[in-house]
Amino acid sequence: MPANQPIGVFDSGIGGLTVANAINKLMPKEALVYFGDTAHLPYGDKSPEAIKYYSLKIAKFLMDEGCKAIVIACNTASSLAYQDLKLFLGNQIPIYSVIDPVVDFMTAANHFQNIGVIATRATIKSNIYAQKLQQKKPELNVHSLATPLLVPMIEEGFFNDQISNTLIHTYLSDPVLQGIDSLILGCTHYPLIRNEIAAYYHPKITIVDNTEIVARHLRQELQQMDLLNDEEPAPHRFYVSDYTDSFEKSTQLFFGQQIGLNLRQIWD
Ligand code: DGL
Repeated sequence: MPANQPIGVFDSGIGGLTVANAINKLMPKEALVYFGDTAHLPYGDKSPEAIKYYSLKIAKFLMDEGCKAIVIACNTASSLAYQDLKLFLGNQIPIYSVIDPVVDFMTAANHFQNIGVIATRATIKSNIYAQKLQQKKPELNVHSLATPLLVPMIEEGFFNDQISNTLIHTYLSDPVLQGIDSLILGCTHYPLIRNEIAAYYHPKITIVDNTEIVARHLRQELQQMDLLNDEEPAPHRFYVSDYTDSFEKSTQLFFGQQIGLNLRQIWD
Protein backbone atom coordinates (compact mmCIF):
# COMPACT_ATOMS: atom_id res chain seq x y z
CA MET A 1 0.00 0.00 0.00
CA PRO A 2 1.58 3.35 -1.03
CA ALA A 3 2.13 5.80 1.82
CA ASN A 4 0.46 8.63 -0.09
CA GLN A 5 -2.96 6.95 0.12
CA PRO A 6 -5.49 8.64 2.45
CA ILE A 7 -6.47 7.71 6.00
CA GLY A 8 -10.16 6.81 6.37
CA VAL A 9 -11.98 8.21 9.39
CA PHE A 10 -15.61 7.57 10.25
CA ASP A 11 -18.25 8.38 12.82
CA SER A 12 -22.01 8.31 13.17
CA GLY A 13 -21.99 11.98 12.26
CA ILE A 14 -19.72 14.96 12.49
CA GLY A 15 -18.52 14.40 16.09
CA GLY A 16 -15.63 12.32 14.74
CA LEU A 17 -14.30 15.45 13.07
CA THR A 18 -12.67 16.18 16.44
CA VAL A 19 -10.50 13.11 15.83
CA ALA A 20 -9.93 14.06 12.17
CA ASN A 21 -8.87 17.50 13.38
CA ALA A 22 -6.34 16.05 15.84
CA ILE A 23 -4.92 13.79 13.08
CA ASN A 24 -4.75 16.71 10.67
CA LYS A 25 -2.91 18.87 13.21
CA LEU A 26 -0.41 16.19 14.13
CA MET A 27 0.14 14.87 10.59
CA PRO A 28 -0.61 17.69 8.14
CA LYS A 29 0.83 15.68 5.25
CA GLU A 30 -1.84 13.01 5.54
CA ALA A 31 -4.91 13.17 3.31
CA LEU A 32 -8.17 12.20 5.00
CA VAL A 33 -11.36 10.62 3.70
CA TYR A 34 -14.05 11.25 6.31
CA PHE A 35 -17.43 9.55 6.38
CA GLY A 36 -20.16 10.76 8.76
CA ASP A 37 -23.18 8.49 8.82
CA THR A 38 -25.57 11.36 9.47
CA ALA A 39 -28.50 9.36 8.05
CA HIS A 40 -28.24 6.97 11.01
CA LEU A 41 -27.18 9.37 13.77
CA PRO A 42 -27.17 8.81 16.72
CA TYR A 43 -25.48 5.42 17.05
CA GLY A 44 -25.57 5.75 20.83
CA ASP A 45 -29.19 4.60 20.99
CA LYS A 46 -28.99 1.91 18.27
CA SER A 47 -28.71 -1.85 18.72
CA PRO A 48 -25.30 -3.55 18.46
CA GLU A 49 -26.50 -5.31 15.26
CA ALA A 50 -27.38 -2.04 13.54
CA ILE A 51 -24.09 -0.40 14.58
CA LYS A 52 -22.09 -3.39 13.27
CA TYR A 53 -23.98 -3.38 9.98
CA TYR A 54 -23.47 0.36 9.38
CA SER A 55 -19.81 0.19 10.37
CA LEU A 56 -19.04 -2.71 8.02
CA LYS A 57 -20.59 -0.88 5.08
CA ILE A 58 -18.63 2.26 5.86
CA ALA A 59 -15.37 0.33 6.23
CA LYS A 60 -15.98 -1.22 2.82
CA PHE A 61 -16.61 2.24 1.35
CA LEU A 62 -13.36 3.59 2.84
CA MET A 63 -11.46 0.62 1.52
CA ASP A 64 -12.90 1.22 -1.96
CA GLU A 65 -11.70 4.83 -1.63
CA GLY A 66 -8.17 3.45 -1.36
CA CYS A 67 -7.56 4.21 2.32
CA LYS A 68 -4.32 2.85 3.77
CA ALA A 69 -5.76 2.69 7.32
CA ILE A 70 -9.12 3.28 9.01
CA VAL A 71 -9.83 5.06 12.27
CA ILE A 72 -13.19 4.46 13.94
CA ALA A 73 -13.67 8.01 15.25
CA CYS A 74 -16.68 6.99 17.32
CA ASN A 75 -16.62 5.35 20.73
CA THR A 76 -19.95 3.67 20.15
CA ALA A 77 -18.83 1.97 16.91
CA SER A 78 -15.42 1.24 18.48
CA SER A 79 -17.20 -0.51 21.39
CA LEU A 80 -19.50 -2.62 19.29
CA ALA A 81 -18.02 -3.09 15.84
CA TYR A 82 -14.21 -3.02 16.18
CA GLN A 83 -13.78 -6.81 16.47
CA ASP A 84 -16.05 -7.49 13.48
CA LEU A 85 -14.30 -4.84 11.42
CA LYS A 86 -10.92 -6.31 12.24
CA LEU A 87 -12.11 -9.73 11.09
CA PHE A 88 -13.67 -8.27 7.97
CA LEU A 89 -10.54 -6.32 6.96
CA GLY A 90 -8.14 -9.11 7.89
CA ASN A 91 -4.66 -8.08 6.94
CA GLN A 92 -5.78 -5.88 4.04
CA ILE A 93 -5.56 -2.61 5.95
CA PRO A 94 -5.13 -1.76 9.64
CA ILE A 95 -8.05 -0.43 11.66
CA TYR A 96 -7.90 1.53 14.91
CA SER A 97 -10.48 2.16 17.60
CA VAL A 98 -10.59 5.26 19.79
CA ILE A 99 -10.67 3.09 22.89
CA ASP A 100 -7.53 0.93 22.96
CA PRO A 101 -5.00 3.80 22.77
CA VAL A 102 -6.76 5.45 25.72
CA VAL A 103 -6.79 2.24 27.73
CA ASP A 104 -3.03 1.91 27.07
CA PHE A 105 -2.49 5.53 28.11
CA MET A 106 -4.48 5.18 31.34
CA THR A 107 -2.87 1.93 32.38
CA ALA A 108 0.66 3.06 31.53
CA ALA A 109 0.26 6.04 33.88
CA ASN A 110 0.60 4.99 37.47
CA HIS A 111 -1.42 7.70 39.12
CA PHE A 112 -4.96 6.76 38.11
CA GLN A 113 -6.98 4.56 40.43
CA ASN A 114 -10.61 5.70 40.19
CA ILE A 115 -11.38 6.29 36.54
CA GLY A 116 -14.66 7.85 35.44
CA VAL A 117 -16.09 7.28 31.97
CA ILE A 118 -18.90 9.24 30.39
CA ALA A 119 -20.26 8.09 27.04
CA THR A 120 -23.38 7.18 25.07
CA ARG A 121 -25.81 4.55 26.34
CA ALA A 122 -24.52 1.93 23.88
CA THR A 123 -20.87 2.46 24.86
CA ILE A 124 -21.63 2.28 28.58
CA LYS A 125 -23.88 -0.75 28.12
CA SER A 126 -21.06 -2.56 26.30
CA ASN A 127 -18.92 -2.03 29.45
CA ILE A 128 -15.89 -1.94 27.15
CA TYR A 129 -13.84 0.65 29.05
CA ALA A 130 -14.19 -1.16 32.38
CA GLN A 131 -13.44 -4.51 30.76
CA LYS A 132 -10.35 -3.34 28.91
CA LEU A 133 -8.98 -1.22 31.75
CA GLN A 134 -9.43 -3.96 34.33
CA GLN A 135 -8.06 -6.61 32.00
CA LYS A 136 -4.78 -4.70 32.06
CA LYS A 137 -5.00 -3.58 35.68
CA PRO A 138 -7.55 -5.48 37.77
CA GLU A 139 -7.05 -3.14 40.72
CA LEU A 140 -8.55 -0.14 38.88
CA ASN A 141 -12.01 1.13 39.81
CA VAL A 142 -14.06 2.23 36.83
CA HIS A 143 -17.08 4.49 37.32
CA SER A 144 -19.19 4.52 34.15
CA LEU A 145 -22.11 6.82 33.43
CA ALA A 146 -24.26 7.11 30.30
CA THR A 147 -24.79 10.76 29.41
CA PRO A 148 -27.12 10.49 26.39
CA LEU A 149 -28.32 14.09 26.32
CA LEU A 150 -24.84 15.53 25.74
CA VAL A 151 -24.66 14.60 22.05
CA PRO A 152 -27.94 16.29 21.02
CA MET A 153 -27.07 19.22 23.29
CA ILE A 154 -23.73 19.75 21.52
CA GLU A 155 -25.20 19.17 18.07
CA GLU A 156 -27.82 21.83 18.78
CA GLY A 157 -25.05 24.25 19.67
CA PHE A 158 -25.71 24.44 23.39
CA PHE A 159 -22.38 24.85 25.10
CA ASN A 160 -20.85 27.51 27.33
CA ASP A 161 -24.37 28.52 28.26
CA GLN A 162 -26.94 27.94 30.96
CA ILE A 163 -28.39 24.82 29.37
CA SER A 164 -25.04 23.05 29.03
CA ASN A 165 -24.03 24.20 32.50
CA THR A 166 -27.18 22.69 34.05
CA LEU A 167 -26.94 19.44 32.12
CA ILE A 168 -23.22 18.96 32.72
CA HIS A 169 -23.62 19.68 36.45
CA THR A 170 -26.55 17.30 36.69
CA TYR A 171 -24.63 14.44 35.07
CA LEU A 172 -21.30 15.03 36.78
CA SER A 173 -22.85 15.25 40.24
CA ASP A 174 -24.25 11.73 39.82
CA PRO A 175 -23.14 9.60 42.81
CA VAL A 176 -21.58 7.08 40.39
CA LEU A 177 -18.84 9.59 39.58
CA GLN A 178 -18.00 10.49 43.16
CA GLY A 179 -14.34 10.10 44.12
CA ILE A 180 -12.89 9.83 40.60
CA ASP A 181 -9.33 11.04 39.91
CA SER A 182 -9.72 11.10 36.13
CA LEU A 183 -12.55 11.26 33.62
CA ILE A 184 -12.43 9.73 30.14
CA LEU A 185 -14.49 11.66 27.60
CA GLY A 186 -15.81 8.49 25.97
CA CYS A 187 -17.56 10.16 23.05
CA THR A 188 -15.96 12.05 20.20
CA HIS A 189 -18.42 14.92 20.64
CA TYR A 190 -17.31 15.69 24.16
CA PRO A 191 -14.02 17.53 23.46
CA LEU A 192 -16.28 20.47 22.63
CA ILE A 193 -17.39 20.67 26.26
CA ARG A 194 -14.03 19.74 27.76
CA ASN A 195 -13.52 23.18 29.29
CA GLU A 196 -16.92 23.19 30.92
CA ILE A 197 -16.26 19.73 32.37
CA ALA A 198 -12.81 20.82 33.59
CA ALA A 199 -14.36 23.92 35.18
CA TYR A 200 -16.81 21.74 37.09
CA TYR A 201 -13.90 19.86 38.68
CA HIS A 202 -11.69 22.97 39.22
CA PRO A 203 -8.57 21.12 37.90
CA LYS A 204 -8.83 18.51 40.68
CA ILE A 205 -9.02 15.60 38.27
CA THR A 206 -7.47 14.74 34.90
CA ILE A 207 -9.83 15.07 31.94
CA VAL A 208 -8.84 12.57 29.27
CA ASP A 209 -9.66 13.55 25.72
CA ASN A 210 -9.27 10.61 23.28
CA THR A 211 -8.56 12.65 20.21
CA GLU A 212 -4.89 13.56 20.70
CA ILE A 213 -4.05 10.18 22.20
CA VAL A 214 -5.56 8.46 19.17
CA ALA A 215 -3.73 10.73 16.71
CA ARG A 216 -0.38 10.07 18.43
CA HIS A 217 -1.02 6.33 18.44
CA LEU A 218 -1.89 6.41 14.75
CA ARG A 219 1.30 8.31 13.87
CA GLN A 220 3.39 5.77 15.75
CA GLU A 221 1.67 2.87 13.98
CA LEU A 222 1.99 4.41 10.51
CA GLN A 223 5.64 5.17 11.19
CA GLN A 224 6.29 1.56 12.17
CA MET A 225 4.65 0.32 8.97
CA ASP A 226 6.52 2.89 6.92
CA LEU A 227 3.19 4.37 5.87
CA LEU A 228 3.69 8.04 6.80
CA ASN A 229 3.23 10.28 3.79
CA ASP A 230 6.02 12.72 3.00
CA GLU A 231 4.67 14.01 -0.32
CA GLU A 232 2.30 16.92 -0.96
CA PRO A 233 -1.03 15.50 0.28
CA ALA A 234 -4.21 15.28 -1.80
CA PRO A 235 -7.10 17.45 -0.47
CA HIS A 236 -9.22 15.93 2.29
CA ARG A 237 -12.62 14.56 1.25
CA PHE A 238 -15.62 14.74 3.58
CA TYR A 239 -18.72 12.64 2.98
CA VAL A 240 -22.03 12.31 4.81
CA SER A 241 -24.91 9.92 4.23
CA ASP A 242 -27.50 12.67 4.72
CA TYR A 243 -26.64 16.27 3.90
CA THR A 244 -28.10 19.27 5.73
CA ASP A 245 -26.92 22.88 5.91
CA SER A 246 -26.79 22.68 9.66
CA PHE A 247 -24.34 19.75 9.57
CA GLU A 248 -22.15 21.71 7.21
CA LYS A 249 -22.30 24.83 9.40
CA SER A 250 -21.36 22.80 12.48
CA THR A 251 -18.19 21.44 10.88
CA GLN A 252 -16.39 24.62 11.93
CA LEU A 253 -16.93 23.72 15.60
CA PHE A 254 -15.67 20.17 15.26
CA PHE A 255 -12.89 20.51 12.67
CA GLY A 256 -11.73 24.02 13.54
CA GLN A 257 -12.53 25.29 10.05
CA GLN A 258 -15.56 25.35 7.79
CA ILE A 259 -15.49 22.45 5.34
CA GLY A 260 -17.71 21.31 2.50
CA LEU A 261 -19.65 18.08 3.03
CA ASN A 262 -20.51 15.83 0.08
CA LEU A 263 -23.54 13.60 0.07
CA ARG A 264 -22.64 9.95 -0.58
CA GLN A 265 -25.25 7.20 -0.59
CA ILE A 266 -23.66 3.93 0.36
CA TRP A 267 -26.81 2.12 1.46
CA ASP A 268 -28.64 -0.32 -0.87
N1 DGL B 1 -19.58 10.35 18.40
C1 DGL B 1 -20.22 9.16 18.91
C2 DGL B 1 -19.33 8.47 19.94
O1 DGL B 1 -18.14 8.77 20.04
C3 DGL B 1 -21.56 9.41 19.55
C4 DGL B 1 -22.63 9.97 18.72
C5 DGL B 1 -23.76 9.01 18.49
O2 DGL B 1 -24.46 8.62 19.44
O3 DGL B 1 -23.93 8.66 17.36
O4 DGL B 1 -19.78 7.60 20.63
